[in-house]
Amino acid sequence: MSLRARISAPEEHGSRGEDGHLVASYRAKLLEEIDLAEMSALAAAERRARLERVLGHIISREGPVLSTVERAQLIRRVVDEALGLGILEPLLEDASITEIMVNGPDAIFVERGGRVEQLPLRFVSADQLMQTIERIVSTVNRRVDESHPMVDARLPSGERVNVIIPPLSLTGPVLTIRRFPRSFTLQELIGFGSLDEHMVYLLAALVQAKFNIIVSGATGTGKTTLLNALSGLIPPHERIITIEDSAELQLQQSHVVRLESRPPNVEGKGQVTIRDLVRNSLRMRPDRIVVGEVRGGESLDMLQAMSTGHDGSLATVHANSAEDALTRLQTLASMSDVEVPFVALHDQINSAVDVLVQLTRFADGARRITEIALLDSHGGEPYRLATAARFEARPMTPDGRVHGAFRHFPLPRRTADRLYMASQPLPQAFGVARSADQLATREAR
Ligand SMILES: Nc1ncnc2c1ncn2[C@@H]1O[C@H](COP(=O)(O)OP(=O)(O)OP(=O)(O)O)[C@@H](O)[C@H]1O
Ligand SMILES: [Mg+2]
Repeated sequence: MSLRARISAPEEHGSRGEDGHLVASYRAKLLEEIDLAEMSALAAAERRARLERVLGHIISREGPVLSTVERAQLIRRVVDEALGLGILEPLLEDASITEIMVNGPDAIFVERGGRVEQLPLRFVSADQLMQTIERIVSTVNRRVDESHPMVDARLPSGERVNVIIPPLSLTGPVLTIRRFPRSFTLQELIGFGSLDEHMVYLLAALVQAKFNIIVSGATGTGKTTLLNALSGLIPPHERIITIEDSAELQLQQSHVVRLESRPPNVEGKGQVTIRDLVRNSLRMRPDRIVVGEVRGGESLDMLQAMSTGHDGSLATVHANSAEDALTRLQTLASMSDVEVPFVALHDQINSAVDVLVQLTRFADGARRITEIALLDSHGGEPYRLATAARFEARPMTPDGRVHGAFRHFPLPRRTADRLYMASQPLPQAFGVARSADQLATREAR
């Protein structure tokens, strides 16, 4: 193969072969002369132009025998690698991939259609992987090294990135890239079997009647996706404030204010937390507050807001069941700097939270609402959860699929009354419980 063909051979992009080494060696020389982190302030086109200029000088100095075309291709590839993500680039372009997981230079996994598979790709070395990581991190003005071994960043295209390196990681530098989630409508989610149309009617009525709703689930179960779809049901005249760690919600209404928290900079300054934003949002005359994920002391501020007139707020929390979500909110609220007795927090949750929506990711990759529960307890009573809908799974079929059915249960009187007062239709599949023993309830502390 000619040098020209080798330089441009896409299948060998950055991974193997003689030309791979040529590109790698020029990339290393280029990176010796410039500091990518320093260049992060420049606009993308200017950054590229500057790298091309410096590399042009290096190539002229070293003097390899190259035609004009070969030289241009070499420059393009080296700069692509210095600025881009090398072998990860095609994976990012593949829309069917929802997650890219790099566990050290030799192990690259992707999630496709809910299933995880290993790809026959590798980085040349841990060093090359580290360079890719540094490139990602430097574009958001962060640093990764032994004193900052864990970093969250975002690609310019919106993908969320997490990096953890040795000594914390024992398998080499580890990189996890989550594709910027596509937004789905509730109709599309019905199509995936994540919920049924009766549940959509119920959720729509609950959102419009301004119930406070907590979406709960483990990592990657579809919390943000559902939160986005539910937020879409908020009437267009209401003022919505969204608060997120990395802005993923894509609301279509016109009266939306989007707030995003900010990690500390390299000197450890300038941090703005979700909690700061929740507090600030209360002074912005919100009709609705939508919190991407509650994971700290903001739980307290949010619960206070929910129980003092900011009805109709929506949030997600990381938990494995509806009762777990309540305990988690309580624990997170107790982590806040304001000393609130645990018992008082319990009361606060009883008055703040109205609905819990639990999501689960099944072994076959399907994401479903496994429960919609109404919190039907008051004050210091133990949490009483009334199931309105539940997914009942059948044993897995030989092809590894999980099938099952959604069941619906009567709603508590209190819920039905509130829907009625808000002029929302009572979803027929559920009905109203005439006595307590018609409710599918359970208690939790
Ligand atoms: N109901 C669904 N059916 C199929 N795919 C879904 C569904 N909900 C979400 N997904 C996909 O699953 C992935 C994770 O979704 P999402 O980001 O909403 O999860 P999450 O629970 O918010 O994750 P995290 O805990 O990391 O914030 C995305 O690629 C998304 O498009
Ligand atoms: Mg999320």
